[in-house]
Amino acid sequence: MSLNKNSSENQAILTVENVNVFYSSNTPAVASVNLEIFKNQITAFIGPSGCGKSTILRCFNRLNDLIEGARVTGDITFNGKNLYDPKIDPVAVRRRIGMVFQRPNPFPKSIYENIAFGPRINGFKGSKNDMDDLVEKSLRSAAIWEEVKDKLKESGLALSGGQQQRLCIARAIAVEPQVILMDEPCSALDPISTLRIEELMQELKQQFTLIIVTHNMQQASRSADMTAFFNTELADNGKRMGKLVEVDRTSVIFGSPSQVATEEYISGRFG
Ligand SMILES: Nc1ncnc2c1ncn2[C@@H]1O[C@H](COP(=O)(O)OP(=O)(O)O)[C@@H](O)[C@H]1O
Ligand SMILES: [Mg+2]
Repeated sequence: MSLNKNSSENQAILTVENVNVFYSSNTPAVASVNLEIFKNQITAFIGPSGCGKSTILRCFNRLNDLIEGARVTGDITFNGKNLYDPKIDPVAVRRRIGMVFQRPNPFPKSIYENIAFGPRINGFKGSKNDMDDLVEKSLRSAAIWEEVKDKLKESGLALSGGQQQRLCIARAIAVEPQVILMDEPCSALDPISTLRIEELMQELKQQFTLIIVTHNMQQASRSADMTAFFNTELADNGKRMGKLVEVDRTSVIFGSPSQVATEEYISGRFG
């Protein structure tokens, strides 16, 4: 491993300090999270349902802001700046930190328009040719260009599930984010499409930082550089809340985790 690689591996692009997220209740849905996300790496969030993986993921692009009554306390920094500073525009955050959801959700528009839409609403100033180039580049980066180049005017909804998910990844890439959040991006896909997305993730991390929530333990161990294990705990009032149990290099989490709960989860004893 080159020195260069080591230094970039250690550069935190996002830091989470003492973060709690509340929905309508006074008990946090997920509490006391401390975490660093390193640039050009893949970080996987694993853990049983309801432990707050999606909740923390949504903090990174301020999607929880759109949920009435949701509240985030603690500090999250992005490139060293407070992501929740009142002066920061959440829409600008979502351009820098894109998201891909569990169910592929292309717009009911042409393949071309699925890609062109984001740059256009973000003030893309180039010519038609420039837009054609951006559409091609984005589709190429998401490893779907060859499959769609002759049918760019057809609906994105006419593609297979795996293709739709790569189209959604291309759409996320088109606005040139720094970070791509993926919430169980393969859980609606067959095993072959899943492997294609995993291969794609390895390409994408050269250029982007990826955070992926997954229920698939093989996927985390194959794909991720870092893995964070979340679990639920009983709060003092007897309610369940999510906690980050441990975060480490994926080889450590799956090889010799320091917490018993992690060991039990990865060996399939619960969850
Ligand atoms: N929009 C919401 N409103 C209220 N509670 C929510 C909402 N989303 C999630 N929760 C609650 O927050 C906790 C964590 O959920 P979530 O982040 O979706 O977990 P995970 O992604 O790990 O399955 C759960 O108890 C869930 O019921
Ligand atoms: Mg979830």
